[in-house]
Amino acid sequence: MSTILALFKSRQLWRITSILVLFFITGAFLFALNPREALADKSNFLLDTSSYDSTIDATASTTENAYGVIKDKVAVISDTQYTSRLIPLILHFHAILGPSWPIIFYTSQETITKHFTPSSSSIWNRAVDDRRIQIRTILPEHNLTSRYGVNLFLSRPWLWEQLAPAKHVLVFQADSIICGNGKMSVDDFMEEGWDWIAATLHPTEHLYNGGLSLRNRSMILDILSEGNNWEEETTSGEWTMGGEDVWFSRKMDERGAKLPSQKEALRFAVQHEWHITEEKEPLGYHKVHKNAPGRLREIERWCPEIALAAPGILEPST
Ligand SMILES: *[C@@H]1O[C@H](CO)[C@@H](O)[C@H](O)[C@H]1NC(C)=O
Ligand SMILES: *[C@@H]1O[C@H](CO)[C@@H](O)[C@H](O)[C@H]1NC(C)=O
Repeated sequence: MSTILALFKSRQLWRITSILVLFFITGAFLFALNPREALADKSNFLLDTSSYDSTIDATASTTENAYGVIKDKVAVISDTQYTSRLIPLILHFHAILGPSWPIIFYTSQETITKHFTPSSSSIWNRAVDDRRIQIRTILPEHNLTSRYGVNLFLSRPWLWEQLAPAKHVLVFQADSIICGNGKMSVDDFMEEGWDWIAATLHPTEHLYNGGLSLRNRSMILDILSEGNNWEEETTSGEWTMGGEDVWFSRKMDERGAKLPSQKEALRFAVQHEWHITEEKEPLGYHKVHKNAPGRLREIERWCPEIALAAPGILEPST
């Protein structure tokens, strides 16, 4: 009894007691700061590991990871001009589109040899190794450094056949961007079921640009398999209204495709002064460096990523 009393009076015991009290107060304080995580940890501790996994899945995005495999959709950029913006731009599209969009970069053998075997960007190489981004070689007959060459490439069946079995193809070019602040995603537009959606080239006619466009791949192949040919119609003078984008959208309109009004289209992409006045918060921009250089500051406030896009290098369209 006298020893217990002595211990009770000892400094040692008081020191241990105060450490324990401090420990519990700190614990309670941390729990109060972060009660949800603390509870989750506790329940995970009580449950077995299989329910731990399902707890994680229930709160995670349900977007399917389709890396390396084309399913219902695919994003495509075809470009043979290497600039220091190219890799950051494609990686940005990859981040915004998410894991369910394979991204295919079509370029020339020359550009691959010079800049991509491997690339000096370790970030890019990792994405390619993971098959999140694929590099493919265009046919040697294609030359993407002229507008005519780009139109030929996009108006022939080869590319569209290569992208099977995708139903929807997002075409983007180095002078386009999609914005992280977008209220709608590309998938939202896909679900609306447009056969073509892109910035409009005319306020009321169903004519759209191609440089940032979401297209129905099978309808494009249907049009081509019926004997329509942009190259021949352009050479013969039968078609005088311009590139493959105007041509395809006109052909689609003629067959009663589901095409957006100007107001609907501008939610997706904006590319002219008159668009910018009408729609301040689109998902994306195309060609604004050339068409509306005075509005870049304003665009930057909604879409700072516009800095990754650059004025196109192709000669002006006629
Ligand atoms: C592609 O076309 C450009 C001009 O349009 C030309 O200067 C270049 O040599 C061509 N490249 C190839 C590989 O044919
Ligand atoms: C694409 O067009 C084809 C007709 O060529 C049509 O049957 C199909 O429903 C369209 N697909 C989508 C996803 O809109």
